[in-house]
Amino acid sequence: MESLPISEWLLSELKQSRFPSRMPAHRRVYESIRRAIVSHQLTPGTRLPSTRSLSEALKLSRNTLLAAFEQLHDEGYVVSLTGSGTRVAETFPEEFTETKNIKDTKKTDLAKGATGLSVRGIAAAGLSDQPSYEVQPFAPGEDDFSAFPTQLWRRLLNRQWRAPQPAHLDYGHTGGYLPLRSAIANYLRMSRAVNLTVEQVLITSGTQQSIDLCARLLTDNGDLVWVENPCYWGARRVLEVNGLKLHPVPVDEEGISPGINDFRSPPRLIYTTPSHQYPKGVVMSYGRRRLLLDYAESKGAWILEDDYDSEFRFEGHPLSSLQGMDQNGRVLYLGTFSKVMYPGIKLGYLVVPPELTESFKRGLYQLQRPGQVVIQAALAEFIDEGHFASHIRRLRQIYGERRRLLQEALAPVTKVGASLPVAGSGLHLMVGLPSSCDDVRIAELAAEQGLRVYPLSSYGIGDKREKGLIIGYAYSATERIAPYGRILAEVIQAALSY
Ligand SMILES: Cc1ncc(COP(=O)(O)O)c(C=O)c1O
Repeated sequence: MESLPISEWLLSELKQSRFPSRMPAHRRVYESIRRAIVSHQLTPGTRLPSTRSLSEALKLSRNTLLAAFEQLHDEGYVVSLTGSGTRVAETFPEEFTETKNIKDTKKTDLAKGATGLSVRGIAAAGLSDQPSYEVQPFAPGEDDFSAFPTQLWRRLLNRQWRAPQPAHLDYGHTGGYLPLRSAIANYLRMSRAVNLTVEQVLITSGTQQSIDLCARLLTDNGDLVWVENPCYWGARRVLEVNGLKLHPVPVDEEGISPGINDFRSPPRLIYTTPSHQYPKGVVMSYGRRRLLLDYAESKGAWILEDDYDSEFRFEGHPLSSLQGMDQNGRVLYLGTFSKVMYPGIKLGYLVVPPELTESFKRGLYQLQRPGQVVIQAALAEFIDEGHFASHIRRLRQIYGERRRLLQEALAPVTKVGASLPVAGSGLHLMVGLPSSCDDVRIAELAAEQGLRVYPLSSYGIGDKREKGLIIGYAYSATERIAPYGRILAEVIQAALSY
């Protein structure tokens, strides 16, 4: 772009047919600049032409340009400094989703050239966290498979393979194996107060795929989606790659907390984790649930309820789902077998409102050609024979104990300004840190001690990022939790005592 003035480049960009015909001009300008920033065609610090000169060059009204620039500014892509105009921000929302080596590559190579990737491809392949095959203690999202009943599972699989029905070896075109959908429907009705018939349950290959399907079937390129800030990066990535515009909404101790500015930006989708906000761990209050449901109904928005780890509630009554409170069919409920079984099973489920059932079943088949019916059949038996419920009980006991030990070991950090959660659920907890500290550095210091924790700020979107550490306790053996926890507490104490 250095060889081409930004206004000329923008002019040719706006003529491209990839924009939907209904997309207003300010959105096209905004989207073109945003993509150029994300793909590093426009590098941090680059000065953008004034809205006045762009208005002349592009033959667009000044208000159109002002609206585009305002949006870029509000989302942290650009900064305006008195006297030096508008510049590309040094850090921008997608910053942590891009890999360093992509950043280091010559920027002109990025859009299409040397990598061969599209902008969407770069967003998809830029991993926030490179796969690490050496899992370390406290890594969030890592489970302990030693409690998994391998022999029993093998027996159930073998039973299916002994005389496989031809239909079990084909693609599944019915939305999933019916006995499994039925077992899930019973489980969700009983345990999560989900309001459903078996027809509404679709088997997917996990939450990631469920979100992808929702994005493809319910939105168009450029639509707005509310996401929690901080947000689960897996969801964020899929939504971004589908061309959606993320509107981050803060999260407080009652869960997602939209304010006046948020209500002025009605979304097409709302992605939320009400039972156990990922990553902060808070539970959405009754009042917020009502607010969200009423707002979604009034705007015709769809809510994606990601209920990823609600099986692991260690204290108090089980929580009902948001879907169970929904009287208007606005909630799509997403669940996964990654946590209770094992991630590689690649099975999850999506409960859709009755009016969407047929379209989703067809969309799932057209887009993803689902399969794994043999495994679905074994899983249906695993649930029907009561093994699923007893496995959850066993895991709940193990993980509850690990959480208790970790909380105990970390207790000293509260003396230096950190905070620990009160209630317990899920497979990770968050230690809240003062806003003045560098949580990335503290995570690095923990890594030097062989412990892998994630900085809360890396899940944040925009300039104002909360600080904290996300600590997974599912992976380490119970007897190792207290000693590792004490090491981590010392790292935190030392860092905060400076
Ligand atoms: C918030 C959240 N949702 C869903 C999942 C699981 O997704 P999947 O079913 O795609 O494995 C995870 C995994 O860590 C998660 O953290």
